[in-house]
Amino acid sequence: MELVDFFMVATSSLGFILVCKNVLNFVKWVWGMFLRPPKNLKDYGSWAIVTGSTDGIGKAMALELASKGLNLLLIGRNPLKLEATSKDIKGNCNNNVQVKFLVIDFEKDKGEEIKERVEEAIEGLGLDVGVLVNCAGLAYPYARFFHEVDSELMNAVIKVNAEGPTWITKAVIQRMIKKRKGAIVNIGSGSSVVLPSYPLVALYSATKAYLAMFSRCTNLEYKHQGIDIQCQAPLFVSTKMTRMTSSMFVPTAEMYSKKCTRWIGYESVVEPYFLHSLQGFLIRLIPEPLFDYFILCYHLYIRKRGRTLEGLQD
Ligand SMILES: NC(=O)c1ccc[n+]([C@@H]2O[C@H](COP(=O)([O-])OP(=O)(O)OC[C@H]3O[C@@H](n4cnc5c(N)ncnc54)[C@H](OP(=O)(O)O)[C@@H]3O)[C@@H](O)[C@H]2O)c1
Repeated sequence: MELVDFFMVATSSLGFILVCKNVLNFVKWVWGMFLRPPKNLKDYGSWAIVTGSTDGIGKAMALELASKGLNLLLIGRNPLKLEATSKDIKGNCNNNVQVKFLVIDFEKDKGEEIKERVEEAIEGLGLDVGVLVNCAGLAYPYARFFHEVDSELMNAVIKVNAEGPTWITKAVIQRMIKKRKGAIVNIGSGSSVVLPSYPLVALYSATKAYLAMFSRCTNLEYKHQGIDIQCQAPLFVSTKMTRMTSSMFVPTAEMYSKKCTRWIGYESVVEPYFLHSLQGFLIRLIPEPLFDYFILCYHLYIRKRGRTLEGLQD
């Protein structure tokens, strides 16, 4: 074979393999997004624990899980909001789900103590916990350089976003291993899974990257024991955290949670909302340095606006 012929065969084969890979990925995506039947979450156990269930995505997910017949243990820091959410859920679901709540402040309470209190609640109330959704989260009020994040905010972001989910996972995992089933969902963020960088919101996106890696690794550790661990990575959702109104690419928490529950129990890191996934695809087509530059400029603008509103100057 001549060198030119060899080159032609090699490049065509490589091209064919790449096309096949992309077609397979697309078919897999369509299957997961629209066609694959969701798992029956009650098969994991009759109770779900949801943190951050007093607002936004966590509250919407709690409502969604209750509508599927799961009893709920809600975890939050504000007893009044927890009580109101419990009433909302009971009022919205006509399938007689039980709702209990536990007051925990992930920022103030110590990790070991959080674990013990969750274990006591599970034991004391005799709950068969099948699903855990770690949704409590905290972002900066607005973008800022790392050195501008004060110690209080730094401590809060790390404790709520990373330490909290880790300790709650520790509290349920032993029981899940014993009964050889369970599902854990950690709500991460597209800022660390989809975007190449998230400057000026570094600490937040780094804690979310932690959740993605924690989920990936623990899923491999426990999958063979019947436990499915997953990180769900949304882009923008209209909640009090983002203060964005809903639009085509920014769903309400209710719209988002309806889609995301159908992914529970499958891949270890997912972008469950169709239009977020499409956005992710388009973002990945942009050369990284260009996107880095754009996101840096955008967050510099958000920082400036936030500082002006606070009456601060550079
Ligand atoms: N919204 C988005 O665009 C978006 C995008 C990517 C990822 N996420 C992630 O999705 C999750 C939910 O966010 P969201 O938009 O629904 O935010 P949200 O509306 O602000 O709700 C956050 C929830 O976390 C709870 N929480 C905050 N600090 C806490 C603490 N110290 N102890 C216990 N609970 C605490 C809040 O309790 P209170 O009700 O007492 O405030 C609330 O229930 C977060 O992990 C967030 O990082 C959101």
